[in-house]
Amino acid sequence: MKYTWEDIERHVAVCTHCPLSRTRHRPVMGRGDHQADLMLTAEAPGGQEDQQGLPFVGSSGEVLDRLLRDCGLRREEIYITNIIKCRPPGNRNPKEEEKEACFPYLKYETFLLKPRIIVCLGRVATQRIISPDFKITRQHGTWICRKNCAPTATYHPSAILWDPSKYETVREDFRRIAEKRAESVSKGDPE
Ligand code: URA
Repeated sequence: MKYTWEDIERHVAVCTHCPLSRTRHRPVMGRGDHQADLMLTAEAPGGQEDQQGLPFVGSSGEVLDRLLRDCGLRREEIYITNIIKCRPPGNRNPKEEEKEACFPYLKYETFLLKPRIIVCLGRVATQRIISPDFKITRQHGTWICRKNCAPTATYHPSAILWDPSKYETVREDFRRIAEKRAESVSKGDPE
């Protein structure tokens, strides 16, 4: 694979691989540090993201920023993306064919970034990236062993908007994620 970040961004900007390209306002490519060791992957852009072409700039983004701040992380030092780059109308769940059409972009992002830790936010991203059987209610915060990277999952920030009592649970997951990241940085690069 010889694609660069610029190539992917260019392809995403004009992508017509699924019908969401006809209803989106702007596609939303991932954003953040291209050297980051931590990648957050959520579901799909919402209304604000679709207007601005940036991930997590609406109310879920405010919750995400608070979680990051609470565990000493900054957006500028991580990479944030979605499995789907275009907003599904009315924020409905993405369809299988939409996820399949968009998945290569996430693969390229992951290939270029080579994150040590991937945090899946919410069921849709988790079941696509970790396993269709993964249950966030029971398994959030657990680590999956993969060759070069450790995926984990927690609730989507929008779940906190629906049920603020989840905040502490997700904050604890984020605290452990920040801890694991600090450990892996202090161990140095395995390659
Ligand atoms: N919800 C998501 O899943 N992704 C965003 O970028 C914003 C809201």
